[in-house]
Amino acid sequence: MPNHSNANLSQRDAAVVWHPFTQHQIEPISIPITHGKGVYLYDADGKQYIDAISSWWVNIHGHGHPYLAQKIYEQALKIEQVIFAGFTHEPAIQLSERLLGHLPANFQKVFFSDNGSTAVEVGIKMALQFFHNQGQTQKRKIIAFEDAYHGDTFGAMSLGAPSAFNAPFQDMLFEVEFLPSPSDADACIAAMREKMNHADEYAAFIFEPLIQGAGGMKMYAPETLDSLIALAHENQLLCIADEIMTGFGRTGKWFAMDYLTHKPDIACFSKGLTGGMMAMGITTCSNALFDAFLSDDRKKTLFHSHSFTANPMACAAALASMDLMEKQETWDNISRVEASHQAWKNKNQDHGIIKQIRIQGTIIAFELAVGESNGYMHSIRDRAYQYFIKKGILMRPLGNTLYILAPYCISNEQLALIYSEIENFVAELVG
Ligand SMILES: Cc1ncc(COP(=O)(O)O)c(C=O)c1O
Repeated sequence: MPNHSNANLSQRDAAVVWHPFTQHQIEPISIPITHGKGVYLYDADGKQYIDAISSWWVNIHGHGHPYLAQKIYEQALKIEQVIFAGFTHEPAIQLSERLLGHLPANFQKVFFSDNGSTAVEVGIKMALQFFHNQGQTQKRKIIAFEDAYHGDTFGAMSLGAPSAFNAPFQDMLFEVEFLPSPSDADACIAAMREKMNHADEYAAFIFEPLIQGAGGMKMYAPETLDSLIALAHENQLLCIADEIMTGFGRTGKWFAMDYLTHKPDIACFSKGLTGGMMAMGITTCSNALFDAFLSDDRKKTLFHSHSFTANPMACAAALASMDLMEKQETWDNISRVEASHQAWKNKNQDHGIIKQIRIQGTIIAFELAVGESNGYMHSIRDRAYQYFIKKGILMRPLGNTLYILAPYCISNEQLALIYSEIENFVAELVG
């Protein structure tokens, strides 16, 4: 009988696999997961974990969802993959039509890629080449937020605030100008206004709408973003919404941009797009932007593609996820999760070391005010991670920022268990 215990699989894994965002010297062991059901992940020894972070923010309907699995299976039997240059297929067409139906009317074209970072790369290339194709070659710079995170490829890293994530490559990243945190609305808008004195140099402004995820689940007001987009538009900058974490109900509406009056010109999606079942990225834009790439001159083409662009099985997963997103039950769950977070916040508002509890839709985040200042490298992170894993809860604190970002099907009882373990952890910390 083959040995499929945790110990055996972890040992074999450690011998041959290099994991992402993992310091293997400090974290030598990865937990082998054999299956998932709803909000639970199960390891090889049969222990269950509540997936309180939706497996890096991708899963929205729960693991092992039979409807999504069935739709992917059915698609695999028809056509699993076909080159997307010169060819097309029904799932990609239907997904484009249905996605655009849920977006503001200025979005009219859909470009497919593989993941969040590539969706951002495409958005940036669209913006830069839009101006280049029209001879406006001086418009090259991009504006982003301090604490921004847009992915790990070189272009996406350039758009991220300088941090430990991209420090070894700083000298190789292209120039991006950063606005102060949008949580300080006045300073942020003033800095944008100042930059608009030489607006001709800028092609685009990119942002994570309403919540800066990896930067510490920092939340900010839609009015601030509205003012920034308005300023950018007055000065002919393209605005790029990175909805990779916020899309598909996560913030309480279909998209975070639904809270805005001023709409972006380009939007990037991934993660929840396929219900977290398959890797896929999408970048959307207007017909006006698309038209700037139409020419008898082939050099004006958007030369961007990945082997698995618009993979039919990923499209089928996204369509199936959209079926679920269009059900009232999903929205009832989203409201229920938000109400549950709100009730916990009300009870813990003035709790000793739990600071700045904030909620946006299904996301709740707060800081643990212990010792050092805030930040991703805060030493409390590892202790908290291990504590929750031991208790059967997958949390992945961002330094001393703890957050819950669970599949929408999480029950009130499962949420109550997470809250009570947070309280127990905090009680242990204060001794
Ligand atoms: C806002 C945002 N943009 C882009 C990305 C990159 O996505 P991916 O990890 O799929 O490349 C992430 C991933 O966490 C994200 O949160």
